[in-house]
Amino acid sequence: MQNTPIQIGLAGFGTVGTGLAQILLHNTEWIGKRLGRGLHIKTVLVQDLNKTRSFIPAPDTRFVDSIDALVDDPDLDIVVELIGGLDKAYEIIAGSLNSGKSVVTANKALLAEKGPELFSLAARKHLGLYYEASVGGGIPIVQTLKESLAGNRIKSLMAILNGTSNYMLSEMSQKQIDYSQALTRAQEKGYAEADPTLDVEGWDAAHKLCVLIRLAYGRDYPLNMLPVQGINTVSVYDIGKAQQFGYVLKLIALVKEQSGSLQAGVFPALVNQDHMLSKVDGPFNAVVLEGNAVGPIMLYGQGAGGLPTGSAVLADIMALVNQNAAYNNTGFLENDLRTANILQPELTVSKHFLRITVQDRPGVLAVLARIMGDQNISIAQLNQTQEAAGQFVPIVLLTHAAQLQQIQSAIQEIDSLEFVQSPTVHYRIL
Ligand SMILES: NC(=O)c1ccc[n+]([C@@H]2O[C@H](COP(=O)([O-])OP(=O)(O)OC[C@H]3O[C@@H](n4cnc5c(N)ncnc54)[C@H](OP(=O)(O)O)[C@@H]3O)[C@@H](O)[C@H]2O)c1
Repeated sequence: MQNTPIQIGLAGFGTVGTGLAQILLHNTEWIGKRLGRGLHIKTVLVQDLNKTRSFIPAPDTRFVDSIDALVDDPDLDIVVELIGGLDKAYEIIAGSLNSGKSVVTANKALLAEKGPELFSLAARKHLGLYYEASVGGGIPIVQTLKESLAGNRIKSLMAILNGTSNYMLSEMSQKQIDYSQALTRAQEKGYAEADPTLDVEGWDAAHKLCVLIRLAYGRDYPLNMLPVQGINTVSVYDIGKAQQFGYVLKLIALVKEQSGSLQAGVFPALVNQDHMLSKVDGPFNAVVLEGNAVGPIMLYGQGAGGLPTGSAVLADIMALVNQNAAYNNTGFLENDLRTANILQPELTVSKHFLRITVQDRPGVLAVLARIMGDQNISIAQLNQTQEAAGQFVPIVLLTHAAQLQQIQSAIQEIDSLEFVQSPTVHYRIL
């Protein structure tokens, strides 16, 4: 290895930062064979300089707590942002690009909010802004969409992008435990943060979906326009009902192109038990997409964790070193990504699962059937549980394909009936 090492400034030495440093340490020779030069972490930015660190990246690595030490250091070739969050991370990324350094980040939240602005800045500066680790942890989905499938129109992309939610749904489904027990288990295993809001309310998956939509379609889908629903209202009862009908309940991130418009969203949905995504259990992630030339493709792997995510960060660093990185990394030529044409969510068509809790008395089914008929919704299957018989009983209806707005109108009317006990539970069937 004759060439001088690439100097890296690492912002963040937590799960992913440490994972990256470990891979660099263990795979030094291998990396050198591929790059012809070494990678050296010169500076590490952390919040708490007094924290005990399990190891340090190199004997001469300097730990700092000021972002200026990264942004203003002319010797750094690449800055890697792994602190997460919005404001400080933005300062680090924009500051590094403005001072002539390419950037690698795993920060999907920031890319979802400020991606177009940051990509535009990187392109103007002829620097790289790489982000493989921002979606799917170790799964190489960014590179796949940007490079390997560049010649395809992506007809649809359907994914499980949040390992915490997927782990919790798997536990609820396999062990018949309720939501709060599943959350406690996820926290004990380190799959869920102390504050799990971003994961369980669907926002983490939404951030990732925004990043994928840009890569697949070259359009910005503003986060505040994306319909987002998490798993925090899912009950073990509905998971069991879905199973009886041959479905598995999953938190799905979906985008489809329909006549030049994009239909997208994050929501819990019933997935047929024969579908590949129904087999993705625990903290794993997967993306199933369909290109108009390649056909269906599935990528599956660990969506989080220090080593898998560090592996994706390292791939970006190596790509930057190999390609010298002076190009726009959105996969499209336009520097300013235009906003997508958005298909109103109410117009999307799918099958639906409804659980309606009603008083157990004659004539109820006839009223429900009349309301569904008025909205042109055809019922495919109906189940009224024996074990719950009593004053109130749950009726589960599976519909044939219907527009979401027809379903919403039907639910509104059903929930206003005096014999309906609680708001109707509704999931899409994919
Ligand atoms: N964890 C995963 O599996 C995973 C997977 C995919 C993507 N990501 C993304 O990767 C990024 C990092 O995640 P992580 O799990 O590694 O985070 P983490 O374990 O919480 O570590 C965060 C690190 O950043 C430092 N930090 C936080 N705020 C800072 C500030 N204001 N100034 C300076 N340093 C600060 C912390 O310093 P101290 O050490 O002093 O506390 C810590 O070293 C996030 O964007 C996350 O979304 C994570």
